[in-house]
Amino acid sequence: MDALRNVLTRLQQQGVALGHFNVADLVLLKAVLAAAVEVGVPVIVGASEGERDFLGTCELAALVKAMREEHGVPVLLNADHTRSLPKAEEAARAGFDSVVIDFSALPFDKNVSRTKEAVEAIKAINPAILAEGEIGDIGTGSEIHETVHSDFRNLTTPEEARQFVDSTGIDILAPAVGNMHGMLKSMVEGKTKKHLNIERIAQIKKAAGVFLTLHGGSGTDDEDFLSAIAAGINIIHINTELRVAWRQSLEGSLTSQSNEVVPYKILPPVVDSVKQVVSSRLKLFNAQLTSEYCCLY
Ligand code: G3H
Ligand code: ZN
Repeated sequence: MDALRNVLTRLQQQGVALGHFNVADLVLLKAVLAAAVEVGVPVIVGASEGERDFLGTCELAALVKAMREEHGVPVLLNADHTRSLPKAEEAARAGFDSVVIDFSALPFDKNVSRTKEAVEAIKAINPAILAEGEIGDIGTGSEIHETVHSDFRNLTTPEEARQFVDSTGIDILAPAVGNMHGMLKSMVEGKTKKHLNIERIAQIKKAAGVFLTLHGGSGTDDEDFLSAIAAGINIIHINTELRVAWRQSLEGSLTSQSNEVVPYKILPPVVDSVKQVVSSRLKLFNAQLTSEYCCLY
């Protein structure tokens, strides 16, 4: 299967973005795979430290490898929001395609030195692995927040982006461009949307000259997604939207089958519901894609 760098380079030429969807169980993983097969485009599966601790880092890598071979779909695997060197090395040894090295909560200089150390460590294990670094405050927690607890107008500057890329050796940058992790209740209800600073994305792309990741995608306005991709975003992370679909459909399935105890009778509607969310996002992120590219992999 094509390495992540080649997939990102090709998709950038096509003017589309790679959808990144977090998984914490087999239901979510099956749904992401099924959507990628249905839409016929590459996808990247992500798991944060918490999600990896629950699923198992090597177990997830083995599952994705088996599903990739079984379905012949280009599924890549990312170690999301990794905040320790041992966890980054563990993911690299397990065969992950990329690692999000996230020391964004530290002061800039500390973020630079810790990120640089982790980049060198994972590339010593696998030179083809891609390292992503994160700067700026986009909050934490792929969950439903009561209020916005940070000022997401503190955007990453092109100068910071340039300096961070040069001094760490990262392949992918995750900047703060008006995005935030998680959703407000009003977003889950579809009453409000997240909006991005598209001009800043374009400035950062020009200054940094590397692939860009948009974290905190859930609840973002569709037009902002398309403009962000055109401005240089290569990977878009979606998690909370999947978790909301997972919970709501599980409640629905348990309620409609109140006496049912068989998991493979209770869970298929949950897979379907999550799959619909992933498919709709994949279709949007690949909107530019010419038909003759589809299903060629
Ligand atoms: O790393 C995961 C993402 O950035 C997901 O953010 O839960 O706001 O979609 P989200
Ligand atoms: Zn994230």
